Amino acid sequence: MSIRPKLSRRAQAIPASPIRKLVPYALAAKKRGVHVYHLNIGQPDLPTIPAGLTALREFKPEVIKYGLSQGDHALTDALIKYYSSLGYKFEPEQIVVTTGGSEAISFAMMAIADEGDEFIIPEPFYTNYNGFAITSGVRLVPITTTPETGYSCPSAEQVSEKITDRTRGIIINSPGNPTGAVYSREDMERIAALAQEHNLYVISDEVYREFTFDGVRAVSILDIEGMEERAVVIDSISKRYSACGARIGCVMSRNGNLMEAVLRYAQARLCPPALGQVVAAAAYNDESDYIEESRLEYQRRRDVVFNRLQGLDGVVCKKPKGAFYCLAKIPVDDVESFCKWMLTDYQREGSTVMTAPGPGFYATPGLGGEEIRIAYVLGCEQLEAAMDCLIDGIKAYNNR
Ligand SMILES: Cc1ncc(COP(=O)(O)O)c(C=O)c1O
Repeated sequence: MSIRPKLSRRAQAIPASPIRKLVPYALAAKKRGVHVYHLNIGQPDLPTIPAGLTALREFKPEVIKYGLSQGDHALTDALIKYYSSLGYKFEPEQIVVTTGGSEAISFAMMAIADEGDEFIIPEPFYTNYNGFAITSGVRLVPITTTPETGYSCPSAEQVSEKITDRTRGIIINSPGNPTGAVYSREDMERIAALAQEHNLYVISDEVYREFTFDGVRAVSILDIEGMEERAVVIDSISKRYSACGARIGCVMSRNGNLMEAVLRYAQARLCPPALGQVVAAAAYNDESDYIEESRLEYQRRRDVVFNRLQGLDGVVCKKPKGAFYCLAKIPVDDVESFCKWMLTDYQREGSTVMTAPGPGFYATPGLGGEEIRIAYVLGCEQLEAAMDCLIDGIKAYNNR
C-alpha cells in the first residue's frame, strides 16, 4: 500500500469558504426542483457597467500579451483620473494593479509583515482575510464588535489592548462586509492616531466606498492627515462596477518603500489579467450615473431587508449604513444547522433561501452562532419573496 505524501501545515490550516461550503446542498435542492434565492454570496446581480462590456467587445488583440506588472498605462491613468475626481492625487508609482482586491490584500500583508507578525482587525470581517493571512503566514488578532452596536468601530482602549511587539498593522473595511457598518471620521481618526502612536500601518479595504446610504459618506483613510507613510488602500472593480469575474483590483500607498516591495511581488506573478484591465480602464473612465444608480438600488434593497427584519421577535439588527450586506442575529439555536436545513428540508411554495452562517466571519471560536449574513444581491421583488421564505423558515425550523 502506498503512503500518501503529506500536505503542508498551511494547506491544512486554510479554511473552506464558509460562504461556499453550503453550495452542494443548494445544488441538491435545485435538483429536487426547489428554487433557491441566493443571498449567500456578494455576487451582485446588477449588469456590469456597459462601458466595460463595450470595451471588452471591442478588444480584438492578435496576441493576448503579458502586460506591465504594475498594470497597463490605460488602467493606471484611468485610476489616477478616478481618484483625482474624489480629491486624491496619486502618481503612477503609487499604484499596483492586482488580480482583484484579493491579491491586493495578500500583497499588502506580505509586504508589511513577517511570518508570525500580527494584524489587528475588528471582527466579524470578510472571511477570506483568514485565507490571505494563512497564505501570508501572518496572524489576525480580532477585536469583537457586536450586532447590538451595529458593529461599531472599536474604541482606542480595545485596540491598544491588542497591540504587541508583533503588531504590524490594523485592517479596516468601511463600508464593511459582512456588517454594513460605515466608520465615521472620528473612527478613522482614532484608528489613524493609534497607528501613528504605535508605528503601525493601516490597511483600509475600501472596495464598497460608494455604497453608503441615508446621506452617510464613507471616509477614506486617505482623508486623514499624517497617514502618507502608513495608509495602504485596497480597491477593486468587482463590486463598484459589478465586474467580479474581471479580477481587477489595486493596492495604493504614498509610501514609496512599501510600493517598491509590492511591485516586486507583482513582478513575481508577472501581470494582472489583460482582459480584465480593458474592462476596468473603461469603467474608471466612465462618467455616467452607473455607480449612483447602483447605490440607490442597494439602498432600496437594504430597506426591504431591514424593514422585514425589524421588530421580529429575537432578531437583532441595526440598519446597515453601507455595502450590500445585512448581518442579523436571528432566533435559532445554531445558524450553521439552520442555513443547511433551509436547503435540505425546507421549502415554501417551491422556494427556499440560502444565506451565509455567521461563524465564518469571526476569528474567535464560538462567535457568530446566532448570526446570518444576508447579501442583498437580488431585486426588491425577489428579495421580498426571499424574506418571506427566511422569516417563515425561522418559524418552521424552531417548530420542527
Ligand atoms: C471587503 C472585501 N474586500 C475584498 C474583496 C475581494 O474582492 P475581489 O478580489 O473580487 O476584488 C471582497 C469580496 O467580496 C470584499 O467583500
